[in-house]
Amino acid sequence: MPAMVVSNAGPGAAKKFEGKITIYVVICGIIAATGGLMFGYDIGISGGVTSMDDFLEEFFPVVYERKHKAKEDNYCKFDNQNLQLFTSSLYLAALVASFVASKVCTKHGRRLTMQAASIFFLVGVILNAAAVNIAMLIIGRILLGVGVGFANQAVPLFLSEIAPVHIRGALNILFQLDVTIGIFVANIVNYLVSNIHPWGWRLALGLAGVPASMLCLGSMVIAETPTSLIEREMLMEGLAMLKKIRGTDNVDAEYEEILHACEMARQVKQPFKNLMKRSSRPQLVIAIVMQVFQQFTGINAIMFYAPVLFQTIGFKNDASLLSAVITGIVNVLSTVVSVVLVDKVGRRFLLLEACGQMLITQVAIGGILLVNLKATNELGHGVAVWVVVLVCLFVSSFAWSWGPLGWLIPSETFPLATRTAGYAFAVSSNMLFTFVIAQAFLSMMCHLRAGIFFFFGAWIVVMGLFVIFFLPETKNVPIDEMTEKVWKQHWFWKRFIDEEETKKHSI
Ligand code: BGC
Repeated sequence: MPAMVVSNAGPGAAKKFEGKITIYVVICGIIAATGGLMFGYDIGISGGVTSMDDFLEEFFPVVYERKHKAKEDNYCKFDNQNLQLFTSSLYLAALVASFVASKVCTKHGRRLTMQAASIFFLVGVILNAAAVNIAMLIIGRILLGVGVGFANQAVPLFLSEIAPVHIRGALNILFQLDVTIGIFVANIVNYLVSNIHPWGWRLALGLAGVPASMLCLGSMVIAETPTSLIEREMLMEGLAMLKKIRGTDNVDAEYEEILHACEMARQVKQPFKNLMKRSSRPQLVIAIVMQVFQQFTGINAIMFYAPVLFQTIGFKNDASLLSAVITGIVNVLSTVVSVVLVDKVGRRFLLLEACGQMLITQVAIGGILLVNLKATNELGHGVAVWVVVLVCLFVSSFAWSWGPLGWLIPSETFPLATRTAGYAFAVSSNMLFTFVIAQAFLSMMCHLRAGIFFFFGAWIVVMGLFVIFFLPETKNVPIDEMTEKVWKQHWFWKRFIDEEETKKHSI
């Protein structure tokens, strides 16, 4: 169905983009989004593997011993820095890799960056599945991290650039949808292999090769984005690709706009330096803050450690993995809600609704644990089931808001000149704070106990206020018109853009 989107950016006149949703664009989107599967599978698998006895006995005997001592403090039995390092080393590597990936993305395109991602990832998988010592485990995870850094840099940008403006949100969220599917599949795998002794964990880690192979093969057949082609001076190819993905020859307005954005970008020799200018402040702050807040919802305390968390409150091994599968399904289905709604109700509405829902559920979980879970008892069955229900309500609200929008918003707000560099800050902030949570959560739980949930609750209040006052709506605004239509119009951020312009004119 062709859709006309009015755009009046660029120098002067109002233009019309004819944006069909072509099968080709949808297929490219689906294939590229498999990068999200790799990320998601990793998030889901490490929690399961680190709660498996065979794995713990082989690599972390101290934790194994402690886990099986009946008298060990509930909140502390998994607190071990090395065990946390296994989970979190991936994110440190991804943090560094995203800056390299930003350069590769600009110089060699989004597609090649995705291919590189899948190769790093595959090598990491082999090392992990074959690991005979901690070094192999950690080096393997670092390579997985490099893969994730590359994929998370290239995939959301790719999706935002190929999408017709009126479905940009939905198409971009395919990435997050795949993240959630990856987590869900990992949860099922954890559940199934936990009874395969003694090598079930190897199978769990090895199966990460499947999404990586899918991305590797898929990225050979998909298109490069017209923006990336034009940016690299392949003008004819860029124009042809634009016609192909839009399913019409009438792409002049959009082509001109991309060309204009590329010209502006070419004048910027050092994108990272440019990012430090005042005029880049609005996008940069939003990109970083969205990711930091995404992590301080506390989502990964649940995603990484769901099996561990459920064991903490008294579920047996199988039951706790099964509960993680349930939260996994909720996560996937609720992300679909976001795909459907994001371009209709807008980004701000979803984020604010979720803040309310997440706050209530975090406080309720914290309250229940505070009253019922002491150092060495177990929660009664009924209460434990309530905790799982609340966790599901929490996960669902995250899944239609901060999860996908943490990736979407930074990918659509930067001008081309600073897009890949700016987005690298978003990816690396995500990775840094994912690392912080992964590394600290088990220790925080040991010290703060049920209070950990109130800690995250307090952050949710802060993020709600931030959205109300500082986050502009970006729904239905063409990606290369954000400065004009969004930043220059915002009550707070416009001063940064205006001052810069005033300065330019007074020179
Ligand atoms: C976040 C991950 C999180 C996942 C949960 C992603 O958007 O970046 O840290 O584990 O959502 O679905």
